[in-house]
Amino acid sequence: MFGSLEMAPPDAILGLNVAFRNDTNPNKINLGVGVYKDETGNTPVLACVKKAEQLLLEQENSKSYLGIDGLPEYGPLVRKVLFDGTVEESRAVTLQTPGGTGALRVAGDFLKHKVGASRIWLSNPTWANHNGVFSSAGLAVEAYTYLDNTGLALDFQGMLDSIAQIPAGDVICLHACCHNPSGVDPSPEQWEQIADACKAGGVLPLIDFAYQGFANGLQEDAAAIRLFANKVDEFLVCSSFSKNFGLYCERIGALTIVAQDESAATAALSHAKKAVRTNYSNPPKHGGAVVTTVLGCDDLFTQWDAEVAAMRDRINGLRKLFVDTMAAKNSPVDFSFIQQQRGMFSYSGLNAMQVDQLKNDHSIYIVGSGRINVAGLNSGNVEQLCDAILQVL
Ligand code: LMR
Repeated sequence: MFGSLEMAPPDAILGLNVAFRNDTNPNKINLGVGVYKDETGNTPVLACVKKAEQLLLEQENSKSYLGIDGLPEYGPLVRKVLFDGTVEESRAVTLQTPGGTGALRVAGDFLKHKVGASRIWLSNPTWANHNGVFSSAGLAVEAYTYLDNTGLALDFQGMLDSIAQIPAGDVICLHACCHNPSGVDPSPEQWEQIADACKAGGVLPLIDFAYQGFANGLQEDAAAIRLFANKVDEFLVCSSFSKNFGLYCERIGALTIVAQDESAATAALSHAKKAVRTNYSNPPKHGGAVVTTVLGCDDLFTQWDAEVAAMRDRINGLRKLFVDTMAAKNSPVDFSFIQQQRGMFSYSGLNAMQVDQLKNDHSIYIVGSGRINVAGLNSGNVEQLCDAILQVL
């Protein structure tokens, strides 16, 4: 039965890691997958995580199964980081999930098989895996306008017009901050109008929140979801601690469902738990235990906040370094837009052929759409990157 299988294409993002590993050029640069790297190119374990792990090593006394929705303390602590009291606790339920991707897939299964939704609308462009995750859950996938025809700025009127066309009862996937792949986010005033448009059209928001803390701060970056909490009765948040805790390989995220009232929220949780049970049964513990330990301790929380700020500041410094270096080299293209964008990623404006040339001629790996992981830059590789881009332009 397997003999007739043909090779599946490599993953648009994770496939780059394999190609990068196989590249023997000692000066290769990986700006593909979204992981934070320090000045030495290492993806560090946060100090607050190390302290939490030390505590767990001393205090943990069982490796028995968790509940289907995870550690009991996890949900309230996650909701505090997300909403800081802007949603009544009775209206919201949270499931600990294997990463943000796990949250998206559980949400997709819940919406399709328990709520009866049939379609989800994704920004054009969006994270390369959104389409696959939601279509694997059985949802039809459509696109709404997001960027203008430069590909580098928001087409806000186009976005509103697109939302107005979405049939009531459909789902819209929004990026709370640090839009992946473009780094282009709506302003606070634009978020107000987006929430109003969803409400007016009866469109259910599913908000992907994978980069809290990487735009302007842990609190500031939650403004959009807190605004939805004020304006709409029902929505979902798929959040991740991969990036802001550096817990990539521990696969720790959360699905939070906000409902109109307590009984709807409780029923929603019961159905989402069915979706989990028939998929991976219950979540792994370690990442959730680390996050719970940090979020539940004032000192560790303060340390975490500072460590996220340090990562954010470093990325913003790298944006400036890149823009200044390109300008100093008299680039024919003005790259100052990179400094307006936020989060790990930027759309570089490079086309597929230029991306291929970067890989084939310079061993520089970026996603085919032209997305660059800014967090992979450092003072040692920026010159090489800029020279290579100038050659392919
Ligand atoms: C990315 O967009 O690079 C990250 O979210 C990692 C992934 O799983 O694709």
